[in-house]
Amino acid sequence: MKTGSFNNSKNLYDEAVSLMPGGVNSPVRAFKPHPIFIKMGKGSHIFDVDNNMFIDYCMAFGPLILGHSPPEVVEAVKDQLVKGTMYGIPTPLENELAKLVIKGVPSIEMGRLVNTGTEATMSAIRLARGYTGREKILKFEGCYHGSHDAVLVKAGSGALTFGTPTSLGILNSLAENTLVLPYNDLEALDKLFAKEGENIAAVILEPVVGNMGVVLPKAGYLDGIRKIVEENGTILIFDEVISGFRLGFGGAQEHFNIDPDLTTLGKILGHGFPIAAYGGKKEIMEMVTPTGKIYPATISADNAGKVYQAGTFSGNPISVIAGITALKMLKNNPWIYQDLERKTKEITEGYRDLAEDYGVQIRLNSIGSMWQVFFADHEIFDQETAQKSDLKKWDKYFHKMLEQGVYLPPGNFETCFLSTAHTKEDVETTIEAASKALQV
Ligand SMILES: Cc1ncc(COP(=O)(O)O)c(C=O)c1O
Repeated sequence: MKTGSFNNSKNLYDEAVSLMPGGVNSPVRAFKPHPIFIKMGKGSHIFDVDNNMFIDYCMAFGPLILGHSPPEVVEAVKDQLVKGTMYGIPTPLENELAKLVIKGVPSIEMGRLVNTGTEATMSAIRLARGYTGREKILKFEGCYHGSHDAVLVKAGSGALTFGTPTSLGILNSLAENTLVLPYNDLEALDKLFAKEGENIAAVILEPVVGNMGVVLPKAGYLDGIRKIVEENGTILIFDEVISGFRLGFGGAQEHFNIDPDLTTLGKILGHGFPIAAYGGKKEIMEMVTPTGKIYPATISADNAGKVYQAGTFSGNPISVIAGITALKMLKNNPWIYQDLERKTKEITEGYRDLAEDYGVQIRLNSIGSMWQVFFADHEIFDQETAQKSDLKKWDKYFHKMLEQGVYLPPGNFETCFLSTAHTKEDVETTIEAASKALQV
């Protein structure tokens, strides 16, 4: 599957850079010499403005587990559109989605719908701070939790404790309250908690990381974190914006059998429509404004409803009906997850065979329907090891795949996602394209 010209995309990009910073509305969409501009998506494929067709493994960075525009979701949204797009008044649909989430995600007893993953992690962190009365949070290098100030922080070299902001415009006073450690390093965590444990409101992490390529937690790592936070009265937040409903209906927490105190969800939750959520133990969630009718259910009047969070578009019926429809399809067809895993295996095994045939050093990290290839001869288990892989080679591989009609997320630190729409033929075509692209 060879692509033709990219001239129309180039022209649109030349215009876009004068209209939007970098010509895009979110940084990871940009790549050199210019991104492709899309006019349509269907199933496992996207079609660009130059009439090139691609097998898509970006899948909008994760939400589209059922492929582009699954008819069931489209129909449900169409039905709702004529009934009104939003009311700012509760709907029965919100209860229905909340029940699906609470039933399906093991640790969530109560939750709130918000609009983006960024909003979900921001709200969960505020809640953890309100609940514990502590100011500091701990995150891990290479884990991404959205673009709000508290989490746009990474450790400066040698400074494992106090973070430095990764973006201009973030107050040092805020960055100082975000501690950063390498992922998969329990010893470092132990040491930090020995010193700072009583000041740490929350530990937030991706239980499976999708933002430094795919990185899996080492055996015992998540259990180790759970134990340390419990000993220190710290809130454990699993950011399952990517892993939620992807590693199985119950996400990473179900897969690894570990209950966090709070969970953030997004992406698949709206299957292509903007919606996200945070939720967890009732005792913590009941601190969110306002207090409910059955108050005091779990917590004292001093704390109930004291953490503010709100949103005009939160729980809007369009996103909610899309979410309900997609989640029901996943819940009622659990074989989907085994099928997705099988396709991932076929791709990764295909890549391994090719690498062996050509004597190319690669590492493949994968779980469920998430996978990524690194050009490296060492294991990839944290940000440092991911950054030490050959990023130039990866970039050449990306462009060679693009030329052959395979669209990968444009960055080695992103994740390739499979959907139910990807066919056996798609997988075979992808491996065939890789047979040329891996020899870079
Ligand atoms: C793990 C994780 N958390 C949070 C976010 C932020 O979500 P959003 O882009 O919807 O704000 C992302 C986005 O990619 C993510 O991957």
